[in-house]
Amino acid sequence: MSAHTSPAVTYDPVAGLHTRQVTVRPPGPGEVGIDVRAAGVCHSDLHILTGDWPSDRPLVLGHEAAGVVSSVGAGVTGLAVGDHVVLSWFAPCRRCRKCLAGMAWLCTGTRAVANTLPDGTTPFTDERGEEIWPYLGLGAFTSRLVVPESAAVKVPDELPFGIGALLGCSISTGVGAAMNTAQVRPGESAVVIGAGGVGLSVVMGLRLVGADPVIAVDLSPERRAAAERFGATHTLDGAATDVAAWCQENLGGVDYAFEAIGSPKVIETLPGMLTSGGAAVLVGMAATGATGAFDLFDLADQGKRILGCNYGSSVGALDIPRLARLYLAGRLPLDELIGSVRPLAEAAAAFEDLRSAVGTRTILEP
Ligand SMILES: NC(=O)c1ccc[n+]([C@@H]2O[C@H](COP(=O)([O-])OP(=O)(O)OC[C@H]3O[C@@H](n4cnc5c(N)ncnc54)[C@H](O)[C@@H]3O)[C@@H](O)[C@H]2O)c1
Ligand SMILES: [Zn+2]
Ligand SMILES: [Zn+2]
Repeated sequence: MSAHTSPAVTYDPVAGLHTRQVTVRPPGPGEVGIDVRAAGVCHSDLHILTGDWPSDRPLVLGHEAAGVVSSVGAGVTGLAVGDHVVLSWFAPCRRCRKCLAGMAWLCTGTRAVANTLPDGTTPFTDERGEEIWPYLGLGAFTSRLVVPESAAVKVPDELPFGIGALLGCSISTGVGAAMNTAQVRPGESAVVIGAGGVGLSVVMGLRLVGADPVIAVDLSPERRAAAERFGATHTLDGAATDVAAWCQENLGGVDYAFEAIGSPKVIETLPGMLTSGGAAVLVGMAATGATGAFDLFDLADQGKRILGCNYGSSVGALDIPRLARLYLAGRLPLDELIGSVRPLAEAAAAFEDLRSAVGTRTILEP
């Protein structure tokens, strides 16, 4: 096994978004090398470019990806060369209290959110031999990467790589928000604010569990039309409608209000949309340090709840294959979630797709 050099889409606070050659070392003990075949462009990558989540170090961006195992390190038993895998950006340690309790999405042993491998190192160096770090422990906007075995989840070979990529973040987060975090039941009502890759996946999850009605809210007419195709029974223009007033007047409040943008202003309006006993589900990620204000008397008096949702409360090794099976059985219309497919060299345009909320999810192919 030898080191591999290829172009990667990187970000650093000085050079900004950049494509440069990176070298990735071979996998060490407990690690696997992955040939990336498709990577989705998620708003969590954009949060780095906008400075919402400041990074003090150069990163290889990309955390929503699928590919093929190209090499395995010593002691790897669960994966073999040639396996098709979806990468899970919250590589669980499998040893901490949360992992042992079945809550891998809250793993305290992972280093993924510090943008390193579990041992605190990076597998990537740039042309000058300087370290460059894997965003969310992956760094998927390149053709080859190295991850711990727990970050690569085997999926059926017939699963298209683009779908697999989206299963790695937006779909497991969005569908999981409905199924796992909120545990919505048939006939319960829900509103979803923000219909990007994550919000549309919440809509799909709500349809899967039989929620009704499902109201999708976005500023973009294209995204509202997409939400209808994914099962929204109503759509509202967020700029023209007081969504809380609409929910109270038309439905006496909804059982669940999902936010899939990361906007403190929008999050503050969620409890006003709820019926008593309802829950606001925070799926969108706000900027680091953002705070919000709620009507505290109303929350307590009406028994309203606020649920945080990291990674759709998903255990990647269980939920990713489960969602892949549902797709292959025709139960989740995931093909429609893929908008443009672009080469890695068009990363800047792919971020522009995301910013302008045109189409649905953009996939980059190395
Ligand atoms: N909880 C998690 O684990 C997790 C995982 C993945 C992504 N996220 C977060 O989810 C959020 C959404 O990600 P995405 O990739 O779907 O983003 P996106 O940019 O594709 O979608 C956001 C959507 O919100 C819409 N929008 C923006 N402002 C609005 C407003 N005021 N009212 C109504 N609609 C509005 C946009 O038009 C767009 O369609 C981001 O904050 C991302 O970081 C969280
Ligand atoms: Zn993501
Ligand atoms: Zn853990």
